[in-house]
Amino acid sequence: MTFIDRYLPIISWIPKAIEARLLTRHMLFSIPKQRPAVRESARQVSVLDEAAIRESAVFQVQLGRKRNVRFLPIETNIDEIPLAENEVLFLPHSLGLMKYILYYNDGYLPMDIDTFVDPKRELNTAQFKTVPAWGLATVYRTNHPEIAEGSLYYGLWPLAPYSVRAITSVDHGDRVAYQDIPRFKGAREWLKLIEADDFSLMVSDYFEYFKIGITYARELRDFGYFGAEQLVLTSASSSSSQVIAMCVKELNPSMPIIGLTSRRNISLVERLPYYDEVYTYDDIKASPNAKATLFFEVLGKEAVTAECFDHFEISRWWFYGQGSERLLFRFLKKNSRGTFYTNLVDSYIYAKRHSVSDAQILSESLALNQKYELEKLWASNVRQISSNRDLYALYNSFIHNTQPSGEKVMYRSPLHPQAS
Ligand SMILES: NC(=O)c1ccc[n+]([C@@H]2O[C@H](COP(=O)([O-])OP(=O)(O)OC[C@H]3O[C@@H](n4cnc5c(N)ncnc54)[C@H](OP(=O)(O)O)[C@@H]3O)[C@@H](O)[C@H]2O)c1
Repeated sequence: MTFIDRYLPIISWIPKAIEARLLTRHMLFSIPKQRPAVRESARQVSVLDEAAIRESAVFQVQLGRKRNVRFLPIETNIDEIPLAENEVLFLPHSLGLMKYILYYNDGYLPMDIDTFVDPKRELNTAQFKTVPAWGLATVYRTNHPEIAEGSLYYGLWPLAPYSVRAITSVDHGDRVAYQDIPRFKGAREWLKLIEADDFSLMVSDYFEYFKIGITYARELRDFGYFGAEQLVLTSASSSSSQVIAMCVKELNPSMPIIGLTSRRNISLVERLPYYDEVYTYDDIKASPNAKATLFFEVLGKEAVTAECFDHFEISRWWFYGQGSERLLFRFLKKNSRGTFYTNLVDSYIYAKRHSVSDAQILSESLALNQKYELEKLWASNVRQISSNRDLYALYNSFIHNTQPSGEKVMYRSPLHPQAS
């Protein structure tokens, strides 16, 4: 471990982000120039007329103006859509609709993610974007000799009723296939589809979270926990924080883990065995602060973060929650031992450098699933939605903070044979 890794975490993050192709020359030089123009044009667009929501349409959010959405009409006669050689038509089976669907991250722009969610460039404009979401999709039609109709693949998909993907390099041994999106500038990892037919559907829906938890816990262990004696996580009810807490406990059962959560979710979080202590955001000052602390920020609310920085003796911290990236430099001035944590940089690079395979992540996830009966815990309150009206209502419930505690929402394409 180098001096930079230990003492200058934000500097040590840069080569990882470059290796993961999240930071590119294009991003550094052209996004700051593009952003004001996109935001200015965003102001000229009118807000959605709710009565005009169509079901045969793609839900899109406006870059930089999250309260504006639109529904762009699309072809829904999926039996007639022509498939070129090696192309496959996928229908979302279960995409996790977490709070992140509120955001079309500016960080996607340099990777040209428009071509990732929309390879034919028919949907996305400078202002309105289709949000990518993790989860499972069913092969509805296939023109690829090794991809079977009816099979399921885990990956990052556009939140749309269907998508047509060209597939390359199928490896049934490793259970992966790669999408061929030549103009996409991000890492190959984004293009990976994991064949998902014979493992627990619930676990596969949460695969990316397990990958984050498993790699983060190993990295902490590798660094000797930075000398800290407790871990504090915000948004303790979120899937991310729960998985991180259980993975850290798995490697180091004696590490105290403190969960901070909202009042509405406190009773839910108190029942989770991987947190040693739980406090609400109103009660942060009551939490133990005598020990050196690792602080993992998932919530993205400045006031809560500021209170944590005042209360805890922080020996290392990470910003992970959507929106918190804007606060990074402000908090670095208070405490320079902080950096980002993102799945597509940190988890990806850790797994790559330490040869942590998808199969390993999967088998560890299944073991955690069994140990904590996660299927029962998480799947007891899952709501499946397919219609655009439901999607719009969910979106608004995130915006207005009315989404019920602990409810998990999954999107299934309205065109899917098993759509309700
Ligand atoms: N950096 C990365 O690589 C990465 C990857 C995945 C997700 N994320 C980000 O991490 C955060 C958590 O994601 P997740 O998928 O784990 O979330 P999730 O399971 O959907 O949980 C969301 C949590 O956010 C809190 N919350 C705050 N405001 C809310 C609102 N208006 N409506 C509903 N919940 C609200 C609640 O936790 P409390 O009540 O406990 O506060 C809730 O349990 C998001 O900001 C997401 O964008 C980052």
